[in-house]
Amino acid sequence: MHIKDIFTRGREGEEYALRGWIYRTRSSGSIVFTVLRDATGIMQCTVKKSSVPPEDFESAEKALVESAVECRGILRKDMRGPGGMEIQATSFHVISFAEPFPITASQSEPFLLENRHLWVRSREQNAVMKVKEALLRGAREWFREHEFYEVTPPVLTTNACEGGTTLFSLKYFDEQAYLSQSAQFYLEALCMSLELVYALTPSFRAEKSRTPRHLTEYWHLEGEEAFVDNEGNMKIQEELISAMVAEAVRSRGEELEFLGRKKEELKEIEPPFEKITYDEAIQHLREKGREISWGDDFGAEEERMLTQDSLRPLFVKNYPKQLKPFYMKDNEEDPRTYKCADLLAPEGYGEIIGGSERETDYKKLVERMNAQGLPFEPYRWYLDLRKYGSVQHSGFGLGVERVVRWVCKLEHIRDAIPFPRTPSRIYP
Ligand code: 4AD
Ligand code: MG
Repeated sequence: MHIKDIFTRGREGEEYALRGWIYRTRSSGSIVFTVLRDATGIMQCTVKKSSVPPEDFESAEKALVESAVECRGILRKDMRGPGGMEIQATSFHVISFAEPFPITASQSEPFLLENRHLWVRSREQNAVMKVKEALLRGAREWFREHEFYEVTPPVLTTNACEGGTTLFSLKYFDEQAYLSQSAQFYLEALCMSLELVYALTPSFRAEKSRTPRHLTEYWHLEGEEAFVDNEGNMKIQEELISAMVAEAVRSRGEELEFLGRKKEELKEIEPPFEKITYDEAIQHLREKGREISWGDDFGAEEERMLTQDSLRPLFVKNYPKQLKPFYMKDNEEDPRTYKCADLLAPEGYGEIIGGSERETDYKKLVERMNAQGLPFEPYRWYLDLRKYGSVQHSGFGLGVERVVRWVCKLEHIRDAIPFPRTPSRIYP
């Protein structure tokens, strides 16, 4: 039985069998106190010399931390064990003896990164992965309820979606290819078939910047919606994020508390979110003493200043054209800007979603591409979409690890993914 089930459904005096790994262990002559962990939690097993076969006791004495074991015994109340219960072993079988485990208390961050294949067993990593799973499950459920189709775009591409500076390039036989920065263009094609689509794919950014919110490989949750404008796009995003967070709170409250995130804080996450324009954001920043001119991009500091005192995400819409890619829809109300929006996480965690309505005018797209010196050929199929019954459509991309970082209150985004890729790390 899993440890969590023993705690919730187990009856004192009954016999249970569990298997897992030794979390910590100490021996005092005739008793070995081992704490086992499995996927669901930790539980103390006491192995008494007089209660188990002699070879089992010998194994228990010998087995080091992280040895894999199977233990059978009687459930008893015991205030000294974690959770106030323990198993008093009647048998203790070691499936595999561990060598001395390299990770001990208070290791340096570089050491933990180098041993990430083992550090993923830690309670912190275990909790983060469970919260991440719940967030993604919440997203999939929300998409299904709202009749979005999950689709599977490619990761190998021949064009840049978000600009050439952060592309990873590779040889594709005799051709030049890239790792995808975003599935957006493919989703735009697919939404002219299925109308409402989403995809969860890895995205790659060759960002040299070492910041607590950039990975070179991250998971990208993207939606694309036919017959939806920029306002409708924001509504979808705020509902989606709220559903994701609600699922994490519902099913992973304990893990969130363990990570230092109060559930009450996350219960604030409900639509509608506040929406301000880029112009208004500039004004707010100036009022707060920041020197910034219209047309400047927001860095981590600006995004932090805009949201640090709030518990709810904030949309900033209608950015100046020079700050955004060529595919966004013109904003007729202010032609200097696009119909787009970034969603900023609360408490200064920064951008978690980028989205926009898409330009449907073939000529405008070609003009902008020419102005930016983009080659026509790799984008020919994308431009084709404007020739054959194009309709108003919008979409967005959510950085999964950015959301995990905020929800789990992580200092660094690398702890939001089991095997982080950063400019200085691709091992293990
Ligand atoms: O704002 P971005 O660049 O937008 C796009 O890629 C659009 N094509 C998406 C779309 O409309 N379908 O990236 C979207 C999100 C960001 O808001 C951020 O959360 C995340 O992807 N992101 C990163 N996450 C981790 N590491 C990085 N280096 C990231 N770059 C972007
Ligand atoms: Mg962005």
